[in-house]
Amino acid sequence: MRPVLVLNGPNLGRLGAREPEVYGSATHADLVERCAAWGKALGLEVEVWQTDDEAELLRWLHEAADTATPVVLNPAAFTHYSYALRDACAQATAPLVEVHLTNPSAREDFRHTSVIAAVATGTIAGFGVDSYRLALEAIARLPNSGS
Ligand code: DQA
Repeated sequence: MRPVLVLNGPNLGRLGAREPEVYGSATHADLVERCAAWGKALGLEVEVWQTDDEAELLRWLHEAADTATPVVLNPAAFTHYSYALRDACAQATAPLVEVHLTNPSAREDFRHTSVIAAVATGTIAGFGVDSYRLALEAIARLPNSGS
């Protein structure tokens, strides 16, 4: 099975408890379970990791680039201002899909900018936890290399 990394940024470990009216009631553990099941059905071996630490997220992206592993990335708040994360994503050697549970374009002004979008293969936003399923489907359809 093709390995795929699902990387979640800050505060996403608090899904379920965090503003459920915005982010829904599924917990991060639920998300891990669903991604693994969706991946299996698509022939993908999915690992889901979450961190609140920008440096750790950078290290994971470097590892993915070095091993040509496709990535589904929810950069969370880093989306809007982390040039370091953007530069790490730009090094991707396999498809990298930016995902969001919500539709940031329909929310506060500061969320309208993604510094990641221009270096992602594509972006899926606004479908709740299903955004991850759609991202995994996109990766399953893409060739592994190039973006
Ligand atoms: C988010 C949207 C971001 O604006 C926010 O900071 C998040 C979650 C989403 O999945 O909708 O933490 O990336």
